[in-house]
Amino acid sequence: MKHKIQPGILLTIIVVFTLNMSLQAGESSSKKGLLLVTFGTSYPEAKVAFDHIEDRVKEVWPDTEVRWAYTSQFIRKKLAKRGEVIPSPAEALARMGEEGFTHVVVQSLHMIPGSEFHDLAQTVNAFRGLPEGIRHLSLGMPLLNVHADLTHIGDAMARRFQDCTGQNSREAVVFMGHGSHHAANVYYPAFQYYLDELPGHFYIGTVEGYPEIDKVVARLKTNGIEKVCLTPFISVAGDHALNDMAGEDPESWKNILEQEGFHVEVVMKGLAEYDEVVDLWIAHLKDAENAWK
Ligand code: CO
Repeated sequence: MKHKIQPGILLTIIVVFTLNMSLQAGESSSKKGLLLVTFGTSYPEAKVAFDHIEDRVKEVWPDTEVRWAYTSQFIRKKLAKRGEVIPSPAEALARMGEEGFTHVVVQSLHMIPGSEFHDLAQTVNAFRGLPEGIRHLSLGMPLLNVHADLTHIGDAMARRFQDCTGQNSREAVVFMGHGSHHAANVYYPAFQYYLDELPGHFYIGTVEGYPEIDKVVARLKTNGIEKVCLTPFISVAGDHALNDMAGEDPESWKNILEQEGFHVEVVMKGLAEYDEVVDLWIAHLKDAENAWK
């Protein structure tokens, strides 16, 4: 009996074999990386928050390289003088492209989709489709994006600060947010709307946006509050927390609140020091990673 392979079948075998080879070659040459992007900080004591994020990310992606970029040129220059060189997002992406990374997720560690996030999105878009560049490039959303993000963070912080306030207590929690001139500043009053639905007294104010501290003081007085737990609503307890929030300046929030007659307890901890907060950034990172598939 003669076994003769039909020319058609032979061709199919060759095509499938070649395709398989090239697919395997493609897989073996894929190189994945994560780029975490934040405004940055020059305070070593504030960096614990970033270290915490990195530890959590490495738990979830143990085999993927994790890199950092700071968007603030001011902070990058300040750190460079101390010998600490941290790239901008564009520098980091250019380097990763040169080093042959094929899949990169850029994760925004910003609080809101404000101007810094949009600048980052523009940078990421500029790196898309470069002839020899990173083949799969996606961008993870900042902490507060959809409404479920507001409720997740609101619930988590209410739990963390439950000893500071209660339904009928004269004690309140005041969060100091950064605030922005960008349209996305609306996330702060939106967050307050959700905080008002929770048992206890929680208020958010911003340094550079709306609502300002005087709005918070007015609500504390209306509700007969006597004692305040004051804490940053910023990823790190850095410059704003140490100076604008709790500094010696008579205009610091701590001093304003004390002048208004409140007893103030400062909780000097950045948001990124809480697991539940980092979990949300990680969820956004996973969403962005799924955009590859
Ligand atoms: Co600032």
